[in-house]
Amino acid sequence: MVTNRQFVLARRPEGKPTDDDFELVEADVPDPGPRAVLVRTRYLSVDPYMRGRMRAGESYADPWAVGDVLQGAVVGEVVESNHPDFAAGDTVTGNLQWADYAVADGDDLVGVDTGDVSDSAALGVLGMPGRTAYFGVTDVLDPDPGDTVVVSAAAGAVGSVVGQLAKLNGCRVVGIAGSDGKVAHLEDDLGFDAGINYADADVADALAEAVPDGVDGYFDNVGGPITDAVFDHLNVRASVAVCGQIALYNDEGVPTGPRKLHTLVEKRASVEGFLVGDYAPRFAEATERLVGWVQSGDVAFRETVVDGLENAPDAFVGLFEGENVGKQVVRVEAESDA
Ligand SMILES: NC(=O)c1ccc[n+]([C@@H]2O[C@H](COP(=O)([O-])OP(=O)(O)OC[C@H]3O[C@@H](n4cnc5c(N)ncnc54)[C@H](OP(=O)(O)O)[C@@H]3O)[C@@H](O)[C@H]2O)c1
Repeated sequence: MVTNRQFVLARRPEGKPTDDDFELVEADVPDPGPRAVLVRTRYLSVDPYMRGRMRAGESYADPWAVGDVLQGAVVGEVVESNHPDFAAGDTVTGNLQWADYAVADGDDLVGVDTGDVSDSAALGVLGMPGRTAYFGVTDVLDPDPGDTVVVSAAAGAVGSVVGQLAKLNGCRVVGIAGSDGKVAHLEDDLGFDAGINYADADVADALAEAVPDGVDGYFDNVGGPITDAVFDHLNVRASVAVCGQIALYNDEGVPTGPRKLHTLVEKRASVEGFLVGDYAPRFAEATERLVGWVQSGDVAFRETVVDGLENAPDAFVGLFEGENVGKQVVRVEAESDA
């Protein structure tokens, strides 16, 4: 008898999510209908944007209702297929569920071929986070060689790729991250020119030293006080790409803080938010470039792997505590074959 475990949203989190906000329930293994595919989850992605789906208000993805099965990007194995493009044993990726097994329309799945690297890379450097870094750097920030680029959450899934792509563009790159170990990783493994541990340093002082010529491009993953500090160093005509504001995702009220918009006037700087989903028609281009860079060794990447579907909530909450280096994934093992 095969058991299918699924995580549902037990209640809406207040502040940082806790275990009580999630419930692991048992359900039948679903039957795939016409053109649908039954997938056994091998890797599940937990991502910061999911926090927005847990609240009732609007975010850029639809809110989950209490009791809904949580969804996320998955790499899995096809168990049964009613779709002409897929057969049992194929490895696929798509937006599925926090579950051992899930059914998806075959039209919404993509085959996974990550070459020499783990299939889980399809959730990170070769997946949505890698594409976010690619479009954020090439299209939004668009730095010139010689520019100084700063990236926050620099050791994470998106930030680690952003810094390396800016280096490939000939920029001077400074990363901000939350531990000495992460800063060492940026400088020693990823080729960043400098790193700042915001947990252990006054970011304003550290930036004064790290960016003596100011900041031409800022890739903002976090918002809050780190972004306030970077704004004080923007150069004339600087660009800010707003990718995420993770420092604010668990706030219940409207964030307040130093108002820095006057900087944009003085510096004639521009700030642009973006969503990777808007670049869907160009995903193939991004994947092709990223595969090339990973194969050539120009882009290195790390993953933090948590074992067991039952630990997915901890892996998710860990994103807000800086537990991950590189992409956070959950390795899921079904109890037996369907
Ligand atoms: N616009 C888009 O289309 C798009 C797509 C993907 C992701 N995003 C956004 O990009 C950002 C990074 O996402 P990711 O998937 O790559 O996650 P990630 O960077 O792999 O993980 C999140 C990291 O954020 C840092 N962090 C957490 N709380 C923080 C705080 N209060 N202040 C400063 N840093 C904090 C932690 O690292 P430290 O140890 O350094 O604190 C943590 O490891 C998120 O804001 C996400 O929402 C946007």
